Amino acid sequence: MFTVDKIEGDLIKKVDTVITNDYVKVCARDKFCILPQKFVDKFLTRIKQMEVYEDDIWIVTFIKCGTTWTQEMLWMLNNNLDFETALSKTLAERFPFIEIGALMAPVDVDSFEMCSKTPRPRHIKTHLPMFLLPDKIWSVKPKIVYVARNPKDVAVSYFHHYRHMHGYRGTMETFLNAFASNQILYAPYNDHVVDFWKIRNEPNVLFLFYEDMKRNLKLEVLKAMKFLNKNYSEDEINKLCQHLSFESMKNNPSVNFEDLLSMLRELHKTNGLPHIDAFNFIRKGQIGSHKEELTENESKMLNAFVDDPQLKECGFEYKF
Ligand code: A3P
Repeated sequence: MFTVDKIEGDLIKKVDTVITNDYVKVCARDKFCILPQKFVDKFLTRIKQMEVYEDDIWIVTFIKCGTTWTQEMLWMLNNNLDFETALSKTLAERFPFIEIGALMAPVDVDSFEMCSKTPRPRHIKTHLPMFLLPDKIWSVKPKIVYVARNPKDVAVSYFHHYRHMHGYRGTMETFLNAFASNQILYAPYNDHVVDFWKIRNEPNVLFLFYEDMKRNLKLEVLKAMKFLNKNYSEDEINKLCQHLSFESMKNNPSVNFEDLLSMLRELHKTNGLPHIDAFNFIRKGQIGSHKEELTENESKMLNAFVDDPQLKECGFEYKF
C-alpha cells in the first residue's frame, strides 16, 4: 500500500541536521510526504491501524500554522475551561503529539503509545497529511480540527523553528528552496491543505485559518465552541480569549515549550553548533511576518504555492 522512496536531488541533504536526518518520501497512489525513516520503521503501520474513538479530538495541521494556539483553545473548550489543570499540566501531556517520537533524535519517546493510552476523551495532535491518518478516522468520524495559514508566513515561521528546534544552520534561501521544492519535513504543503479543504463541510470537520484567529479570536472561539457542542458565558469566553492572547501564551510555560527548547539548546552546544539568537516558540504571532523577513526575491520563491491551480480548482484561497 505504501512505498518508501529515496528523495532525488541534493536539497534534502542541505536541510539535514544533527537532530533530524534520514528523510524519505512516503508514497501512496498520487500522494507523498517527506518524513524521517524512523517514522516508517516505528509509527506508520501502528498509526494507520490504531483504534479511533468517537469522542477523540484530532488537530491536524501542517507545521507552523498555529497548532499550539488552536490546541490550547480546543482543550480548554472541551475541559470546562479548567485553567488550573491547563496551567499545571503541559499542553504536550494534555494534548499529545502522536508522531513526535519520530522527528527529533533526542526526543526518543514512544509518542504513539502515549496517545493510545491517554484517557478518553483523547486530544491528539498530528502534522501528518490526510493519507497517513488512521484508517478508522474515516469510519468512526471523531472531531477533526484543521488550521491553515498563508504559506509565506508558514515558511518564515518554519525557518526559525527549524533553526532553533532542529539545529539548522543553513541560509534562508536554501531553506525556502527546500520548502518550495517539497524537500522538507512534512512537505508538500498545498496538498496537505487542499485535502482537508475538500472535506471542510463534513459535520465532524472544522476548518480554521490562522489569519481569522488573529483578526477576530472571539469569533473563532465561538465557532469552535459550537463545533464541540459546548456552551460558555460571555465572561467565560472573554477570559478564555485573554488566556489565548499572544502575550499570555508567550509567558505560559505550559504551552511555550521552554523545557524542550532548553534541552535542544544544550544539545546544539554539545554538537558544536554555533549559538544563534534567542527564540520563543510563541515567536512573533503576526500576519505578514514574511513582508518583514523575506527579500522580494525570497518572497517570489513562494509564489507558486499561492498560484497553484489546484487551489482554484477547489475554491481555496490563502488569507494574507
Ligand atoms: P510565528 O513563528 O510566525 O510567530 P505551531 O504551533 O503550528 O508550531 O505554530 C506556531 C506559530 O503560531 C508561531 O508563529 C507562533 O508565534 C504562533 N502563535 C502561537 N500562539 C499564538 C497566539 N496566541 N497568537 C498568535 N500567534 C500565535
